Amino acid sequence: MNSAFSLLGVEFTLNRFPIRQNETLQAWDASDEYLIEHAQNALPPEGSRVLILNDSFGALSCWFANKGYAVTLVSDSYIAHEAARQNLNHNGLGDIQHLDCLAPLPEDTALVLLRLPKSLRLLTWQLSKLSRDLPEGIPVTGAAKVRDIHTSTLKLVEDYLAPCTTSLAKKKSRLVFCDTAKSSKSLPETTSFPVPEFNMMLHNHANVFAGQKLDIAAYLMLPHIPQNAGFKHIIDLGCGNGVLAIQAARLNPQAKVTCVDESFMAVASAKLNMQNDLGSGVNAEWTANDCLTGFDANSADLILCNPPFHQQHAVTDHIAWQMFRDAKRVLNKGGKFLVIGNRHLGYHVKLKRLFGSSRVIASNAKFVIIEANK
Ligand SMILES: C[S@@+](CC[C@H](N)C(=O)[O-])C[C@H]1O[C@@H](n2cnc3c(N)ncnc32)[C@H](O)[C@@H]1O
Repeated sequence: MNSAFSLLGVEFTLNRFPIRQNETLQAWDASDEYLIEHAQNALPPEGSRVLILNDSFGALSCWFANKGYAVTLVSDSYIAHEAARQNLNHNGLGDIQHLDCLAPLPEDTALVLLRLPKSLRLLTWQLSKLSRDLPEGIPVTGAAKVRDIHTSTLKLVEDYLAPCTTSLAKKKSRLVFCDTAKSSKSLPETTSFPVPEFNMMLHNHANVFAGQKLDIAAYLMLPHIPQNAGFKHIIDLGCGNGVLAIQAARLNPQAKVTCVDESFMAVASAKLNMQNDLGSGVNAEWTANDCLTGFDANSADLILCNPPFHQQHAVTDHIAWQMFRDAKRVLNKGGKFLVIGNRHLGYHVKLKRLFGSSRVIASNAKFVIIEANK
């Protein structure tokens, strides 16, 4: 994998996070390069604030920190923030301001660089924040692959900001130019929907998995969540809106429940939903993390997991693998790991290899629910 970033005479070593042996993907792309090259035409004075949204692994943050700007990185991803920290540090650059997507944006921003997210719900949320939090007339440059910029994307930009123009395509990437403006449109903080079969009401922040309805896999998993008076600690790994954690806490009120997700919006939604359902005193913790990094070994009795199958734009099963390995380490001897996945992903084979045995406890045409015991 190429980690030697070189552009306009500047060189950095940039890695994805977490660092993996035999990594095949690099930590920046043509859209990052195009954004940087174009920004040279109209740079704000050195020292002014550059607001960078959705920097994948810190390439943009490193570039502008290196040029002496006050950089604010906004991302919903714990991994993206850690990647930027790691790459800034590795290249001898000072730290920058890190914000999640719910925090107020800095009013002293002089330039906005926006890696357009694939999720239109997240894009809508971020555009509404730019419109609400920043003064009018701040230049905004968006960037994405040509195939991800549609007429509907540009319409959304214009709904919240000023009229926009686009660049020519370069290495399959395109830029979008506009200025901040005040919009009459307003957006609720969360989308809400009921799950009547389980008497639940869920509220999702914009970047939460399965935004406007319950994920079909989570729905299948709910009736199989075990109840056991001996459970002291339950983990919902990749908790999303916390739906599995709520059911686990309802069935096992004696246990502490920890919700973990790499999306700050997921963690905030899980907290909101658990507290609404079980009261603000519910025995639970909510934490943004990369899988179970830093969790004590032999410290949980049950881990529930509906794993992701992509990281940012890349389809991969490496996160599921990391979740499985972490779960094995963190479970107590005899502890239970309950996983749901697409049948074709072959998780039962992987889990059998890792835990020594695994069994399918339920399935339908598309999904299997697998139990493995440590
Ligand atoms: C398929 S969704 C499941 C969400 C929820 N548990 C449900 O059943 O509806 C997978 C979740 O894993 C989270 N995730 C992805 N990568 C992660 C990582 N490295 N560490 C922790 N969570 C991660 C995603 O943000 C997403 O919320």
